[in-house]
Amino acid sequence: MNAPWIVGNWKLHGDRPKLLQFSQVFADRKQSIALSVPATLLGTEYAIALGAQDVSAHKHGAYTGEISAEMYLETGAKFSLIGHSERRQYHGETDASVNAKVLRCLSVNLLPVICVGETESEFDAGRSAEVVRAQLLAALDGVASDAEFVVAYEPVWAIGTGKSATAEIAQAVHAGIRATLASICDEFASKKILYGGSVKPENAKELLAQPDINGALVGGASLEIDSFAGIVAAAEEN
Ligand code: PGA
Repeated sequence: MNAPWIVGNWKLHGDRPKLLQFSQVFADRKQSIALSVPATLLGTEYAIALGAQDVSAHKHGAYTGEISAEMYLETGAKFSLIGHSERRQYHGETDASVNAKVLRCLSVNLLPVICVGETESEFDAGRSAEVVRAQLLAALDGVASDAEFVVAYEPVWAIGTGKSATAEIAQAVHAGIRATLASICDEFASKKILYGGSVKPENAKELLAQPDINGALVGGASLEIDSFAGIVAAAEEN
């Protein structure tokens, strides 16, 4: 499974000066870190791997405002988040559209980072494993056994709340995700599974020490060099 992969999710933040600064500071870590940035920041080569935050479910057509997987690939983007809970919550993303987008990414070799995670009420009802499994099975419908993808588990109640899942809770869900992947086909069992939701320098080491946590998807703490560097350092200590 090799080194953990630390992905920053800049959401609706960031500009070119900031991206240039990050790419200079993290220039020697192209393999182990990446940033998922607004589309307008793509298209220029930086010394840091960049990805998109969503792709259109369509290849082309009358879809004003949409950007296809091909178009992102042309900007030099290496991956795209798919099915982030903010897309599910505010933009009508469904399991079916997540699946369509995953297939669009795979058709052009843009690595999909498939986001899954339960809401607070689902967590309180003890339904995390079941909800995450259903999201994952739907997202991977029709995906070939040799496909390259990454899964990110992000409990919705932990995103931007400062309330991270404990390492124990996260590991249990990650183990369930790995079992679901393995139940689809042997090849999927070794996929990277990132944890996301209030990852900070203070909790990164313990989270990343878990056997089924292979990296982090970091929102708020990826917006400042110091906090992002603290997480990268914690990943390297393990
Ligand atoms: P957070 O966001 O680290 O700010 O909780 C994570 C995400 O939404 O990917």
